[in-house]
Amino acid sequence: MPTLKFAVLPGDYIGPEVMTEALRVLEHAASAAGHALDYQIADIGGAGIDRHGQALPDATLALCREADAILFGSVGGPKWEKLPPAAQPERAALLPLRKAFNLFANIRPGLLYPELAEASPLKPARIPRGIDLVCIRELTGGIYFGRPKTTLTLENGERQACDTMVYRTGEIERVAAVAAATARARARRVCSVDKANVLETSVLWRETVTAWFAEKHPDIALTHMYVDNAAMQLVRDPGQFDVLFTENMFGDILSDEMASVCGSLGMMASASLGTAGNRHGKPFGLYEPAGGTAPDIAGRGIANPCAQILSAALMLRHSFGLDALAAKIEAAVRKTVTQDGIRTADIAFGRPPAGTRAMADAIIKNL
Ligand code: IPM
Ligand code: MG
Repeated sequence: MPTLKFAVLPGDYIGPEVMTEALRVLEHAASAAGHALDYQIADIGGAGIDRHGQALPDATLALCREADAILFGSVGGPKWEKLPPAAQPERAALLPLRKAFNLFANIRPGLLYPELAEASPLKPARIPRGIDLVCIRELTGGIYFGRPKTTLTLENGERQACDTMVYRTGEIERVAAVAAATARARARRVCSVDKANVLETSVLWRETVTAWFAEKHPDIALTHMYVDNAAMQLVRDPGQFDVLFTENMFGDILSDEMASVCGSLGMMASASLGTAGNRHGKPFGLYEPAGGTAPDIAGRGIANPCAQILSAALMLRHSFGLDALAAKIEAAVRKTVTQDGIRTADIAFGRPPAGTRAMADAIIKNL
């Protein structure tokens, strides 16, 4: 059985707390299936700034280059808020990592178990079967990375800033392939989101996506939606979406909206896949919970470890090709939260809340 070699970057505040539990779950699931884990832990984000003077320390980057995947915690928080925006842990750690490994495809499952419907801000009648969609976001192009990116002072003394939104067909097609593969394993419906009534990049996006699906995946039902309408539809009727597919900035915004509609950030996992293959013949990827560092509850042992555990499951699936093992972890999380009703404070709704460790113990028991 092959060894699973990955870099572990816990980050800040609750990052290390939930990472510890995810590693226990992973250790348990992997060893039961005959796989050995081979991982090393390194500093990132605020921890990188404090200990190495770099949000993404050179040694951390070197460790990632040796690995087949990155299991990422969360970075940032009030301690580093005074730093200039470009030096903040979130931007100075995550964006360079995305660029360094060409992590072009961001996969965020928007899953709300029917039993957790009360966690959603939506009326239960709008989500009778819970929510189950996936957002595929382009992650290394668009306005995040386009050049020029400048701030300058005009002759009249006004300051002017400029970001550039730019896309090439190749960038659109490669992430369309991820959307198609995702849809193929689900209900085979892709809704591509753009602003083609205003933006040139969106016109190209829509043309490219349409032609690419017609040629490669004629059996997948492709629709298009303007981003303002998509924002509205996501709260009106999230059940209409199967795969929501969009460019970088629209995806940043819509995926947060989706997470909110799905209730608890503590349950939201994500995968960011790179262009390079790893030793398992699978994409190198970075796997992280979507919830952030939650400084307000850090150090109290009450954070929800599920998002980190589910991110580890995504790593098994996408970077190690261990789909059955990933599904086993996902099922164990689901059973723990729904049938067993063991829940951390963020999703307890009046039940006696379980702590981070107890929640992971219950998941391990269900494995
Ligand atoms: C995300 C985050 C990042 C982004 C920030 C932290 C740079 O919001 O992963 O969605 O905007 O992509
Ligand atoms: Mg975001």
